[in-house]
Amino acid sequence: MSTIRIVGGNKLSGEVSISTAKNSVLPIIAATILSGNKCIISNAPMLEDVFVLCNILKSINVDTQIDEENNNVIIDSSAIRNADPENELVKKMRASFYIMGPMLSRFGHFKISLPGGCNIGTRPIDLHLKGFSALGADIIIGHGFVEASAKKLKGNKIYLDFPSVGATENILMAAVLAEGETVIENAAKEPEIEDLAKIINSMGGRVVGAGTETIHVIGVKDLKGTTHKPIYDRIEAGTFMIAAAMTKSNIQINGVNEEHLKPVIAKLREMGVIIEVNDCILKVNGDVELKPVDIKTMPYPGFPTDMQAQIAGLLSTVKGTSVISETIFENRFMYVQELKRMGANIKIDGRSAVIEGVEKLTGSEVTATDLRAGATLILCGLAAEGETIISDIFHIDRGYYNIEKKLRNLGAYIERI
Ligand code: EPZ
Repeated sequence: MSTIRIVGGNKLSGEVSISTAKNSVLPIIAATILSGNKCIISNAPMLEDVFVLCNILKSINVDTQIDEENNNVIIDSSAIRNADPENELVKKMRASFYIMGPMLSRFGHFKISLPGGCNIGTRPIDLHLKGFSALGADIIIGHGFVEASAKKLKGNKIYLDFPSVGATENILMAAVLAEGETVIENAAKEPEIEDLAKIINSMGGRVVGAGTETIHVIGVKDLKGTTHKPIYDRIEAGTFMIAAAMTKSNIQINGVNEEHLKPVIAKLREMGVIIEVNDCILKVNGDVELKPVDIKTMPYPGFPTDMQAQIAGLLSTVKGTSVISETIFENRFMYVQELKRMGANIKIDGRSAVIEGVEKLTGSEVTATDLRAGATLILCGLAAEGETIISDIFHIDRGYYNIEKKLRNLGAYIERI
């Protein structure tokens, strides 16, 4: 299995261009099967998760082409079969469950194996299923699979107990071809949901209010094909901002949306990081004395849980005491034991982590436990003294396109071996 080797201490400089968002492109790929016509997703990130989701669609006879040359994903679901998708592939990735909504909306029936949990939590789907049944679907949960069927989905009012991103997206997609109007209340407001509504509306759907806590979906008969460029990845951008802060560097990040990065920019500025944004270009200067801060992850527009591990890595090297509270997932501190191997001083207390900043981290052999934890180990390796070897880097490839190439271009000593 390949590993990533880093020798810490290099300053970073120059520019990095951010890819489009994994958490946008995955539901968008699922949504294309609502149309039954050819859709092109341009400037798509060539990520493991994108390839897996395309192969899942292939297993139900959807024609998916990945044009790595031009970063296009072309999907034609005109010959789609309402069959059970390839189980082994479905179990690889939770986002495979996003095809449930579109399949239910288009065919009134779908059966799929239950999405696996992962290291950061049990990842239940009760809110997704509550939405589908509110639209008139009968739900059967068997041994390891879930099946939903309805003669015809009918619009309804749905209140989400928690603003779940996936449930909002799945229910929104199920409502697109349902009869009548659906209202999703206490919906998630993440930018990726607005992006999903944008492609659905460009196919002829009628979604209003995406990005707010109340989303209206007026059912339509059918949809046409479209071309769509997903939004930039705010989490990748935040990860590079922290790379600059950890290595006390000055870099330019191209392809950011300041609005989407507001909570991350605010927190880093509170720590003393110098950040200026002009249009979609962000300049970050981490070569300053940083102050400890407290972090509480919240649904958007709060501080994103997907940046929790990365900022914990940074705070591990900032003199003083910082407290991080993780309110979204029940087990998202798996990376802490790995950071401790690098000399970090972190104590877990339930859903909080108390961090005492240390002078310097030291390179070590560490293991990525999930996607963002893996990215954090890279960031800490850049700042640590000596060599860091990271294993299980397949987690990282799920959500970061060419991360070691992008960092090497900024001057980091990093290689895949
Ligand atoms: C999406 O996951 C993202 N994944 C996650 O990114 C992200 O961390 C998360 O949203 C929160 O922002 C994709 O978009 C592919 P949720 P999702 O449903 O939809 C509970 C990354 O690193 N919940 O908002 O699964 C759940 O247990 C990944 O890129 C229910 O209780 O997140 C969790 O505690 C990690 N019942 C909370 O809601 C449900 O039916 C948030 O989950 C659904 C969720």
